[in-house]
Amino acid sequence: MSKINLLTGKRILLGVTGSIACYKAVDLASKLTQAGAEVDVILTEGAQRFVMPLTFRSVTGRPSYTDMWSLDDHVRHVGLGETADLFVIAPATAHTMAKLATGLADNLLTVTALAARCPILIAPAMDGGMYGHPATQANVATLRERGVQFAGPAVGRMASGLAGLGRMVEPAELLGFIRQAVAQGGPLAGRKVVVSTGPTREPLDPVRFISNRSTGKQGLAVAQAALDAGADVTVVHGPISEPIPFGATAVPVQTTEQMGEAVLSAAKDADVLFMVAAVADFRPNTQSDKKIKKTDEQWGLAIGLEVTLDILTAVKTERDKSGYPRIVLGFAAETHNAFEYGRDKLLRKGLNFIAVNDVTDQGAGFAVDTNKVLLLSSAGVVEEMPMQSKTAVAERLVHHVANSLNGSAH
Ligand code: CTP
Repeated sequence: MSKINLLTGKRILLGVTGSIACYKAVDLASKLTQAGAEVDVILTEGAQRFVMPLTFRSVTGRPSYTDMWSLDDHVRHVGLGETADLFVIAPATAHTMAKLATGLADNLLTVTALAARCPILIAPAMDGGMYGHPATQANVATLRERGVQFAGPAVGRMASGLAGLGRMVEPAELLGFIRQAVAQGGPLAGRKVVVSTGPTREPLDPVRFISNRSTGKQGLAVAQAALDAGADVTVVHGPISEPIPFGATAVPVQTTEQMGEAVLSAAKDADVLFMVAAVADFRPNTQSDKKIKKTDEQWGLAIGLEVTLDILTAVKTERDKSGYPRIVLGFAAETHNAFEYGRDKLLRKGLNFIAVNDVTDQGAGFAVDTNKVLLLSSAGVVEEMPMQSKTAVAERLVHHVANSLNGSAH
């Protein structure tokens, strides 16, 4: 079933240790809770000098834990560690990392880390040369060898006023690392996915171009859904203002020709290509390398258009030889006869799936957050999706593609 958000209902254990970056952990706990996760927080004694358990309780709506053990909950460490989907330690001091590397268990956080069976993600935070010190580096290496994942640290200004490597990564970025860690083992784990999105621009002169109204929203939602399913994602995008999802490799392009080159190169060993971009079908047949002046009337009269490269057709030619990408999903923007035109494009471009949207429908198509899509395969209608968020549409598309790739019927 569609879940809208990867973190909904996920149990995140957040271990907080004694660093000034504790204030960022509060923001992280809030962001995780808003994303639908159940966040249990464990504070070390050091952490409580910077921030109170009540601060976390206020943002998570759940109890936060300290070393105040009682007889009733003497197995708390086992319970917390067993039910969590991910144990995030942020900020993690050099001292806590040293304890984790050697297996010391002298507080609730380190005891729980030993008992935990879920993945562990550490966001180090420390000052000066501490992170670069051979002792810390050896501890990082030991923990990595055991499968512990790391987020950062980042380069920047630290509490001492010095700048260097040791700052905890910002909560928004850490959220990206957490999504990535939770996504591991999803239905597209280990799969390479390429998504094209946005418009392309065909220049007339250095200041003018032909383009379209695409904002890239649907393609970015597909990229996020593929990341959430555990895929390794490359986004080939035309000029758009929305951010590329954390964890994806971005390949910015301008023209159809550049997009074609980038898509063909990224897709040559990909499992899936989602061709969501609104590619410009025409470009000026001449281009001026100087700005065309108003007085150059004959230029305006002489200008004609020529058809651009059809990227999906070029992909088909390569795919017929190599077998890659294994699954190709195209989009079709139609204003009428959606089924017939969609089916025709699917066959002509050799696609496994085509997502047809009627761009005349209010709330579907360009620059809105919703879409209404008819998903077709060569066997016929796969799913008729009612108007819903582009995020929800993206999840349905990824679901069908993953099923097809993994060999289950749908
Ligand atoms: N597409 C492409 N290369 C182009 C134009 C479109 O690869 N030069 C891709 C789009 O990314 C989309 C699919 O082809 O996945 C269908 O795009 P659409 O604009 O609906 O169809 P066109 O092939 O351009 O046909 P028409 O304009 O006649 O509807």
